[in-house]
Amino acid sequence: MREEPLTGGRNASEVVRVGETVRRARDRGSASTARLLGYLESAGYPYAPRYLGVDDHGRDILTYIPGRTTDHPSQRADGAYARGAAMLRELHDLTARYPLAAGRECFLHGDAGPFNTIFSGGMPVAFIDWTSCRPGDRLDDLGYMAWTWCIQAEGNVPVDAQAAHLRELRDAYGPVPPEALIHAMIRSQDRILLHSRQAMRDARYPAAQRARAEEAVRWASADQELIRANEQVLLASLR
Ligand SMILES: Nc1ncnc2c1ncn2[C@@H]1O[C@H](COP(=O)(O)OP(=O)(O)OP(=O)(O)O)[C@@H](O)[C@H]1O
Ligand SMILES: [Mg+2]
Repeated sequence: MREEPLTGGRNASEVVRVGETVRRARDRGSASTARLLGYLESAGYPYAPRYLGVDDHGRDILTYIPGRTTDHPSQRADGAYARGAAMLRELHDLTARYPLAAGRECFLHGDAGPFNTIFSGGMPVAFIDWTSCRPGDRLDDLGYMAWTWCIQAEGNVPVDAQAAHLRELRDAYGPVPPEALIHAMIRSQDRILLHSRQAMRDARYPAAQRARAEEAVRWASADQELIRANEQVLLASLR
């Protein structure tokens, strides 16, 4: 059957569509991702691809979810932020009972940006790219989601609109103090900055990977600056 390369990811994994499935090279996270997706399927969580096994080339097989990822608010419908936050909340509530989350609040998606969310008609329908899933605390996932969905220095989005999206997302997730959410966004940026700064200087990595790390540093720094410069506006919107 025909293999169609899928782009739209920010990383290097080769992801292809084959009929109604997606195939991607197995990596260190594959086993844990497969177990989590199986658990989510049995728990009736509808916002994730199903894990279907390994193909003849040793690649993971997942269900293909029709739609597209987004990188600008103009591509999202009214209510998209609330729906996305509710999808994340349901994941956290369901995995609070997941045995592998032992000792932590729940299992996180770990990379729940709009670039890892499939939208249909401007509304989010599923999270994809579960390779970063891990046990953790809800606010770590929510802070990263709030940043990547609501805050962007690029793209000429008015700060008031960004603040309104942030409020919509927080209101739908559930009560989180304004300061705690802002700090969680900044912490998630610090994690990316730390990791990417190391990667961009590490000569063992291929040039393309170091260039992506450099790009990630520019992205996270610019967005962090926007948050710091507009902290009062964001806090006021959340209050
Ligand atoms: N289950 C799926 N259904 C529909 N499209 C998908 C699915 N999985 C991936 N895609 C498409 O393929 C693109 C790349 O996939 P994905 O986000 O999983 O990998 P990536 O970001 O390139 O890699 P990495 O795992 O290294 O972050 C996505 O942006 C999306 O457009
Ligand atoms: Mg991705």
